Amino acid sequence: MKSRTCLLSLFAMVAMAVCAQETKRVFIYSPNERAGLHIAQFAGDGWQEVGQLCSSDYGTWGAEKRMFHPSVARANDGTWRLVFQVNDRSPLFAAAYSRDLVTWRPQDYPVMTTPQCLKPVIFANDDGTFDIYYQTKDGDRRWVSASNDFRQFRKDEKSLIEMEAWTRDTATIAGKLQEGCLFEISPQELSAVITHFDRMKEDARLSSERMYEDAKNALMPKQPVSATLTVTDQEKTISDKLIGIFFEDISYAADGGLYAELVQNRDFEYSAEDRREWNATTAWHSARQIEIATEHPLSPNNPHYALLWPQDTLWNEGWDGIAVEAGKKYDFSMYVLAGGQKQTFLIQLVGADGTVLASNKLKTAGSDWTQYATVLTAKKGDAKARLAIIPKGVAHVGIDMISLFPQETFMHRKNGLRKDLAETIAAMKPKFMRFPGGCMSHGQGMDNIYHWNHTVGPLQDRKPDFNIWGYHQTRGLGFFEYFQFCEDIGAEPLPVLAAGVPCQNSAANADGIGGQQGGIPMDQMPAYIQELLDMIDWANGDPATSKWAKIRADAGHPAPFNLKYIGIGNEDIIGTVFEERYEMICKAIRQKYPEIKICGTVGPFHTPSADYIEGWDFTKKHPDLQYMVDEHYYESTGWLMHHRDYYDSYDRSMPKVYLGEYAASTPAKRPNVETALAEALYLTDVERNGDVVEMTSYAPMLAKDGHHNWDPDMIYFSNTEVRPTPAYDVQRLFSVYGGDRYVSTSLDIAPALRHRVAASLVRDSKTGRRYLKLVNALPVELTLTVNGLTIPADSKTEGFSGQPEDQKIDITSGVVESGALKLPPYAFRVIAL
Ligand code: AHR
Repeated sequence: MKSRTCLLSLFAMVAMAVCAQETKRVFIYSPNERAGLHIAQFAGDGWQEVGQLCSSDYGTWGAEKRMFHPSVARANDGTWRLVFQVNDRSPLFAAAYSRDLVTWRPQDYPVMTTPQCLKPVIFANDDGTFDIYYQTKDGDRRWVSASNDFRQFRKDEKSLIEMEAWTRDTATIAGKLQEGCLFEISPQELSAVITHFDRMKEDARLSSERMYEDAKNALMPKQPVSATLTVTDQEKTISDKLIGIFFEDISYAADGGLYAELVQNRDFEYSAEDRREWNATTAWHSARQIEIATEHPLSPNNPHYALLWPQDTLWNEGWDGIAVEAGKKYDFSMYVLAGGQKQTFLIQLVGADGTVLASNKLKTAGSDWTQYATVLTAKKGDAKARLAIIPKGVAHVGIDMISLFPQETFMHRKNGLRKDLAETIAAMKPKFMRFPGGCMSHGQGMDNIYHWNHTVGPLQDRKPDFNIWGYHQTRGLGFFEYFQFCEDIGAEPLPVLAAGVPCQNSAANADGIGGQQGGIPMDQMPAYIQELLDMIDWANGDPATSKWAKIRADAGHPAPFNLKYIGIGNEDIIGTVFEERYEMICKAIRQKYPEIKICGTVGPFHTPSADYIEGWDFTKKHPDLQYMVDEHYYESTGWLMHHRDYYDSYDRSMPKVYLGEYAASTPAKRPNVETALAEALYLTDVERNGDVVEMTSYAPMLAKDGHHNWDPDMIYFSNTEVRPTPAYDVQRLFSVYGGDRYVSTSLDIAPALRHRVAASLVRDSKTGRRYLKLVNALPVELTLTVNGLTIPADSKTEGFSGQPEDQKIDITSGVVESGALKLPPYAFRVIAL
């Protein structure tokens, strides 16, 4: 064991006592397991709380994210190391690194050989390494050596270190005695920490500004306001893919949502893994107990099927009922295992009051599993119908993959999408679509990582799985269908797949390891990387030479899908486990498919979050690995209004930005005029920074009534209704009236109101059309004088206005009025020139 410069952090104080006059005493501690790491300063005659430095990022929300017994050491180069216990049942502890106490590198969770790692303590060595000691429940004391960069942790060994090593310093803060670590730091260091907290406080103050409270806001005008917009002749090239969509199977967006299948649990594969109370018969009903078999499955990936007895009507409740429309045709199909006898089934759609809405016979004759189909024509409609499968004098048969689709799907595709929802999405003219998530891409634990190859090929062979959002994925809407939809609506496909790590909020696996769970083991990474390469081959390859491309061609698309982008990772912890795997994946893709543009991730939040900072540090160190990185932030309307310069200072020589998930939110948790205007203001600045921001997508896109996992969402829907929100119209107007050239403008308005008003002028170089977007988020009318631009009197204009809390808006369109441009209070408007 190496000699230690400080056996206890108190020694650090002594070592630095020479400059005692100039140093400041700080105490680093955690007030409670939920509160994270705090810093207090010694001021005058006592300790004073300064603020929270970081928090635990380990494991699930709710049960985990706790910090016990933090221990901090200072390296001889002045940098800091933190270790803490995450719980009393996992074979790991948390480890983090900081240069300045304020920004902590995303935590690593090195796995030890013992079943738990309690009360870790850390000491810095002269040679720059660190010694970490911890205890186990049975009283063992263990020693681990950590490298200076705090990324390598040697295998733990038995240690006989004295118990005094666990004696921590104490301080009384706000009347409570706390245990922690005492340090002396320079006044400059302390002042940097305090400045950081002051900035955070000021940021929180600005971010709390709400349009809803304008009447009480003394800074807001009471009388109409005037401003001058000056248009220059300077242009720059911006992305022509700025507005796209984020599709995640969240809130029943796929099964029961966009995917037009009307039968729920069509394959009898629901299980308690999806939801505790679910099983193979969920959504099915019968007068007798439904018998489920697995002996002779239709496909090994689809092992469960139902056994139907004579006189045994089987009912399916659909997704909160089946919405049947009078006069419409529905394609019914099912697989039957009947041992060669002829069978007849009556297939019916039955209304809530028992009325038969549609009925047809299905005759079957095969022996082994065979698919049979019939068409049902609805004589009457009902929003809450059920499907009945009535055996007519049949023997005991197996049935599986029972399916009912409206014939009118989007673009009449088989296995297609719900027409009204898909058309609403298509009307946005999104330039790209990201899929299949979100958190669903990287999954709840290693076994739930989304494998694209489980979602292609014949429906019965696709591999269903549980959904991280607490329900089931049939994978009927799989990679083929996603790519087909992209092609149908003219959007570039942007598949996002896991970076070899599951969601950082995952629950513990069988070994008690939660969060990223250590990532896919290194010896399995080559196979995982191959799977990602196969996806590109499947999308773009030649069916004559590629087995993957042949699967695509067999599904009906011999021509390549012309995939250009791939996303790797979704708002992960940018820890060592992530970085190692991400780098391997990117290198392999770059080598085999240099033309594919890789999109990385910089974690779940904007600056100054740890993942964002480390993610961008990593990106800047490896600029050639990726084309762009995915940023996420769900924020208040005040934050968006006061950070409109967010991208102004981004380094243009570095990879580009994909703002892949964002939305403005208020306590109402629904898009309204206030959130829509905040997003519109922000997007005008994104357009201005369209040379560094390549793509953006509002998130989440879809939420089904009664099944929300998340709010706000862009489009709400039920089985019979589609309700786009004000957020939708902002996205649609920015997308439809987008351009690939940004024309410089300047807006002259009182400085205190600047964050509430915006103008952006873009040009589409292919058509020559110019589009002027104007936002007035003030509570009063705005009169705009425009210099340097002639707005012809017949220019088309589209937009909306309302009260901040309005969740419904009326889109007004017409031609521009003559004279000065006037925007009513709380308004967004586009003028097509
Ligand atoms: O958009 C909803 C969720 O928000 C996404 O799944 C995840 O990436 C983010 O945390």
